Amino acid sequence: MDKILVEGGRSLKGDVKISGAKNAALPILISSLLTDGVCTYRNVPDLKDIQSVKQLLSHLGAKIETSGDVVQIDAAGLFNHEAPYDLVRKMRASILVLCPLVARLKRARVSLPGGCAIGARPINLHLKGLASLGASIELNHGYVEASADFLKGSEFYFDMPTVTGTENLLMAAVLAKGVTVLRNAAREPEIVALVEVLNQMGANIKGAGTSIITIEGVPSLKPVSVSIIPDRIEAGTFMVAAALTRSDIRLLNCEPDHMKGMIHKLRQTGSDIQIEGKNIRIKGADEIRSIDLKTLPYPGFPTDMQAQFMVLMSVATGLSMISETVFENRFIHVCELRRLGADITVSGNTAIVKGVKALSGAPVMATDLRASASLILAGLVARGSTEVNRVYHLDRGYEAIEEKFGKLGAAIKRIR
Ligand code: EPU
Repeated sequence: MDKILVEGGRSLKGDVKISGAKNAALPILISSLLTDGVCTYRNVPDLKDIQSVKQLLSHLGAKIETSGDVVQIDAAGLFNHEAPYDLVRKMRASILVLCPLVARLKRARVSLPGGCAIGARPINLHLKGLASLGASIELNHGYVEASADFLKGSEFYFDMPTVTGTENLLMAAVLAKGVTVLRNAAREPEIVALVEVLNQMGANIKGAGTSIITIEGVPSLKPVSVSIIPDRIEAGTFMVAAALTRSDIRLLNCEPDHMKGMIHKLRQTGSDIQIEGKNIRIKGADEIRSIDLKTLPYPGFPTDMQAQFMVLMSVATGLSMISETVFENRFIHVCELRRLGADITVSGNTAIVKGVKALSGAPVMATDLRASASLILAGLVARGSTEVNRVYHLDRGYEAIEEKFGKLGAAIKRIR
């Protein structure tokens, strides 16, 4: 398996272009199942997870063509209603085909995703929601089997906001008979992006971006041609890199409105951040101030940026308290960061980080995408060389990460 080698201590300079958002692209590509014409998607990032979703959609009968960052999907010939274990195991977001398959083919058989490194991650709310729209659901041999001659609008209350849960139910409700109201829905920008695409396909959805979303079902949807929104987590990762290495860089093609929480927090650490339309310029401060943070559903601070901020706090002045409230086991990076010399104590869902003068490079690895990204960041600031193993996780969610850091002046290379 590939590894990435980072020599720490270089400062970064220049521009970096932010790619399309993985977590917006996945549901949007899957929404092509809801229509039977050719949909065109631009600004699709070249990632392992995108390859996995394309593999899954082809398995279901869709025809897919890719040219650069443009992906065309034609689900007219959709014939298969089963998402097998091998495909779902690779990527949990595969569960997003459940509702579109029931809406289009009246039935679906999708492998249960199971837990993963960051937590149990149940899908009970996806299933309860789909049942409330009239589907009958059974769990057999590790598979969810759902069927409905037709789906019927209903009111559904999410016990907690779930991003893919909200997306799945949106894709059930768009073709249901009557009106569906989703309460305590997730409010992430990726939800708003999916709703904009569905509305362009002819759906009638109101309230995206708030916790109450109302969907009036329509008989059919038409194909679209759309562009994927920029990846706020990739952008945030580069911003933390600049803050950590006290550098001056510019992020091109991002959406600062989606990043207010992290920008606010980075400013508190001392970074100077200027927003220039769709670009962001960040200059790291000589002294990194420690801050406390708590992850929360959007518009709170994103759990997908917690590991990266923990690295920043590892070399800040003073003590920082980081609470993870979204996933129960998202401190996988802590042990690895300790091996680089970080002083971190974990108690329950809170990590106490005591800033140290410097980290020192070592071989490391992680079993989660954002944890792996945090190790690259640690490598950029550590003394000596850091070898990040199991790069597979990084490739799931960061497009050409070593090339982008290399262009900014980092000493980083992939060893195949
Ligand atoms: N939850 C339930 N029941 C459900 C669904 C969720 O209890 O039926 C719980 C989860 O266990 C978790 C909380 O609700 O404690 C929130 O999870 P959510 O469902 O919102 O997460 P997700 O939809 O599985 C997406 C992103 C994650 C991101 C989270 C939180 C995609 C494909 N994935 O996951 O992204 O961390 O929302 O923002 O959109 C990543 O990109 O590295 C990543 C893990």
